[in-house]
Amino acid sequence: MKRESQYRVSRRGVLRAGAGVLLAAALPPLPARSAPPDGYRIAAAPARAPLAGPDRPETDVWTYNGTVPGSLVRLRRGEPTRLLIENRLAQETTVHWHGIRLPNAMDGVPGLTQPPIRPGESFVYEFTPPDAGTFWYHPHANSLEQLGRGLAGALIVEEREPIAVDRDLLWFLADWRLTEEGGIAPRFGNRMEAAMSGRVGNTVTLNGGGSEAESFRAGERVRLRLVNASLARVMGLRFEGHRPVIVVVDGQPCDPHEPEAGRVLLGPAMRVDIVLDLEGEPGRRYDLVDDFYDGLSYRLTQLVYDERPPMREHASDAPRELPRNPLPEPDMASAERHTLTLQGGMMSMGGISSMGGMMGGGGMMGGMHGMMGMGGGPVWAINGMSMAGDGHAGMKPALTFQRGRSVVLVLRNETAWWHPMHFHGHSLRVLSRNGKSVPHRQWQDTVLMAPKDVVEVAFVADNPGDWMLHCHVVDHQMSGMMTVLRVA
Ligand code: C2O
Ligand code: CU
Repeated sequence: MKRESQYRVSRRGVLRAGAGVLLAAALPPLPARSAPPDGYRIAAAPARAPLAGPDRPETDVWTYNGTVPGSLVRLRRGEPTRLLIENRLAQETTVHWHGIRLPNAMDGVPGLTQPPIRPGESFVYEFTPPDAGTFWYHPHANSLEQLGRGLAGALIVEEREPIAVDRDLLWFLADWRLTEEGGIAPRFGNRMEAAMSGRVGNTVTLNGGGSEAESFRAGERVRLRLVNASLARVMGLRFEGHRPVIVVVDGQPCDPHEPEAGRVLLGPAMRVDIVLDLEGEPGRRYDLVDDFYDGLSYRLTQLVYDERPPMREHASDAPRELPRNPLPEPDMASAERHTLTLQGGMMSMGGISSMGGMMGGGGMMGGMHGMMGMGGGPVWAINGMSMAGDGHAGMKPALTFQRGRSVVLVLRNETAWWHPMHFHGHSLRVLSRNGKSVPHRQWQDTVLMAPKDVVEVAFVADNPGDWMLHCHVVDHQMSGMMTVLRVA
């Protein structure tokens, strides 16, 4: 299937899958395939896709180059790249290269970093990715609807020396709200939903299709790149009978470790790369379950073993640790410290009155009338300020950092809801959660906050410009959980 071969990431897999031959991990890697010499050309345009499976009607979607997920972009670390985006939608758009530490002008936030790309026009993004890893791209204009209708794709920056695995696979997960007739449910931006968990859908796809089973050979070791491209759905993935090992979070290698309680937690916009040893029995099937929401667990897919005998007797003992990306280490002794408090939403109205008249200053928002969540005002705030929509000119930064400074941010979630908080332009070292230090030397661009969580992160403010910081539950972003950090 076209979709499958596009998303089989490793060159070895692509070359050999047809012949049914799996190579031993000891073989030297083939030379990496680089981006097309003149760069990528990507059209944002309407199309149709078999989201609900082959025997259900196709869905009208918006896509990058006609497929869901959009064209897979593969880049090489340290090599300049050029991506031409053509807008064939009937509305303005932009592209945000989520997680890439790139120059501010290439960040894709309309008004703030570039003018929106009008229908029929195009825009060239040019940058040199400094980090290898698993990233993704999506619009930053009318985000709730554009992402919700399918505009999203994976972006892989290749390592120069990848870890030895038999196959390198991408699982691009997305959540859709489909109608009976197979269409995308209209009415984006329901205010009640925005004040709660956001637009959680009813259909989860894996690489754009019904979650069909993936087939494996016993003994195989695979790298699975998991991307959660959902608008709002948090996922907690359990691999029945298997022990996934997390090796990369948000594109940044960490110390290899098993997930807490055996469950891979994946908030919207997060990526986790796992190494999975297929230690099950030939001919058997193992469920892969998402049980994040109480009482709403479902089978995402199955690991299906073919009948062949194990390809190795004991699990591979090749190292799983990847070389680190060149991230600057924050200097804790001199770091400045700031607190960002997340406020609002249903069930925490008490926190709102204290925000008083500080809301919506600087022309960021229309008037704040009465309580949050009532009328047309914002529902969420950060430090008492609500920026809503997709980002635009005139946003006053919540904080300004001198370039090169080390910064510790204390993120306090005073709300009753989960928030994956995304920082543009930087990766952040996660120091502690609720007073307990976070092990495995993890860096993230999207930090998932449970209700009432307090998380400390640190980074060097080395990338100049105005950068968005927002919740990646897109309804939350649109309704106020967003701000700007300036590095000057
Ligand atoms: Cu992935 Cu501001 O977004
Ligand atoms: Cu949120």
